[in-house]
Amino acid sequence: MDLHAMDRYIKSLIKEAGHKIRNSFLSDISIESKSDANDLVTNIDKEIEQFFISRINRDFPGHRIFGEEGFGDDIEDQNGVIWLLDPIDGTMNFVHQKRNFAISLGIYDDGVGKLGYIYDVVNDDLYHGVQEGGAYYNDERLRPLGTTTIEESILAMNATWAVPNRHFDHSGTLKLIQDVRGIRSYGSAALELAYLASGRIDAYISMRLSPWDIAGGMVIAREVGAIATNFRGEPGNLLEQDTFLVANPSIHSRILKDYIHEK
Ligand code: IPD
Ligand code: CA
Ligand code: CA
Repeated sequence: MDLHAMDRYIKSLIKEAGHKIRNSFLSDISIESKSDANDLVTNIDKEIEQFFISRINRDFPGHRIFGEEGFGDDIEDQNGVIWLLDPIDGTMNFVHQKRNFAISLGIYDDGVGKLGYIYDVVNDDLYHGVQEGGAYYNDERLRPLGTTTIEESILAMNATWAVPNRHFDHSGTLKLIQDVRGIRSYGSAALELAYLASGRIDAYISMRLSPWDIAGGMVIAREVGAIATNFRGEPGNLLEQDTFLVANPSIHSRILKDYIHEK
C-alpha cells in the first residue's frame, strides 16, 4: 500500500464529503430513528456513506468497506484492506446543533491500522494519523502526550454512564468524576478521540462503541502514545461493539484498575 498516495486521495475525498454535508444545511433534512427514539439517522448520513462507497469501489477494487449505515460489505473477519467509515459521527449534534460532528474513517490492513482520519466538518479541522508517520491536526504535527495524573486530568464521558446501569458499578465512575480536574461531554466519540490525541482531554470512556466510531481515532491516538483498550485491557475491537477507554498512557491502567468495575 502506498500510504502517501492514499493519504492524498483520502484527504481530498473527505473534504469533498464535508462540502456536501455543509451544503445540506441549505435544504431540508429527513430524520429517522434507528434502535431507539434517540438513535437518529438522516438522509445525509446515508448519502455520504454511499458517496464514499462509490468512490472506494471505483478507485480501490478489492478493498472492503465497513460502514455504519450498512451500504458497505458484511465484515466478519479482518483480512485484507478494510475502510471503517462513520459518515457522520455525532448525528444528534448534526441534527440539533449543526456542529460538533465529524466524518470518521480508518484504513486497516489485516487488522493493522494504517491511516486514520477525523474531520470536524463545520470547523474544517482535519485530524489524521499515518502508521509510524505521526499524527496531525491540519498541517501541525501533534506532539507525544506528556505525563499527567488523574487529579490533573480532564475526562470525557457521557453523563448517562454515571447513573446506575446493568453493565458496571457506577460508584466507580462517580469516584472518578470526583477525582479528576474536570469532565466534558462532546457527543461525538470521534471528536473525543481527536481531542485526546491533541492533548485537550486526557481520557475518554464509553460503555458501548462500534468499530467505525473508533477505527480512525485509534490510528491517530496511537501515533501520540495514547493507549486504547476495552474495559478488560484488550485492544479496541474492529468487528463488534465493545466498551472503550482511550487515555494518556500515564493514567490508562489506573483508570481501569481503580475506577472501572464491570458487573
Ligand atoms: C454516537 C456518538 C456518541 C456516542 C455513541 C455513538 P453516531 O455515534 O459517537 O457520542 O456516545 O455511542 O453511537 O450514532 O452519532 O454516529
Ligand atoms: Ca458513531
Ligand atoms: Ca454515525
